[in-house]
Amino acid sequence: MDIAFRIRRFNPEVQGKNKPYWQEFQLTDVEETDRVLELLHRVKWEQDGTLTLRRACAHGVCGSDAMRINGINRLACKVLVRDVGTKIQVEPILGLPVLKDLVVDMEPFFDHYRSVMPFFVNDTAVPTDGRERLQSQEDREKFDDTTKCILCAACTTSCPSFWANGQYVGPAAIVQAHRFIFDTRDQAWKERLEILGEPNGVWRCRTIYNCTPACPREIQVTKAIGEVKLAIRAGKREGIATPVGPIAESNS
Ligand code: SF4
Ligand code: F3S
Ligand code: FES
Repeated sequence: MDIAFRIRRFNPEVQGKNKPYWQEFQLTDVEETDRVLELLHRVKWEQDGTLTLRRACAHGVCGSDAMRINGINRLACKVLVRDVGTKIQVEPILGLPVLKDLVVDMEPFFDHYRSVMPFFVNDTAVPTDGRERLQSQEDREKFDDTTKCILCAACTTSCPSFWANGQYVGPAAIVQAHRFIFDTRDQAWKERLEILGEPNGVWRCRTIYNCTPACPREIQVTKAIGEVKLAIRAGKREGIATPVGPIAESNS
């Protein structure tokens, strides 16, 4: 099949092209099972080598090729042509500065990520009996969903609250915080709740829900944000006993 492929271009270094503009490419002999990433490769390798995009794994794992495809945030390596039709429009994700073509500056996004302490904190000595810090299956399930995040930014850059105010920490950072807040073995959950209770934390979420369908990992993003909001209100983590310490014998 033939495809009309429209791509948002921008090159700040080239005179006359330093404002964003649309460019259309025609592609022939496209299979309906081709992925949008393959079409971008064809444009770059066969028609215009200056086209700039990020990608690495090509299998939905690294999260580097999030972009707006026909107006919806997706990973280009996961979208099949048969799912988007013969007219395809691709542009950079919104809310982050565009560096060139489909590449945005991810630093503001990672600043928010780093601000929520996205790492395991436990200052007690690791048990020496060879069992490490055990956890019951029920406790593990409380944050199972949010471990799946690949930091692609599709959620944060689909959020109108983030578009309106880039200081909002955004759904991706909250998902990352959720993964540790609801981990019974972690000891910094109160600090994270304090960080997320600040004006640019979870309360900037207006439950608009763009983030959840945008997530290529099908994480229940809005639900996770709601659980963090409830924990801040209650001053505790629902269903998790405090204080957090070595797992009880009955759970091992
Ligand atoms: Fe991407 Fe989903 Fe993680 Fe958001 S929650 S950064 S959409 S994987
Ligand atoms: Fe934005 Fe998602 Fe909340 S789209 S407003 S973070 S529910
Ligand atoms: Fe890695 Fe698409 S290239 S997720």
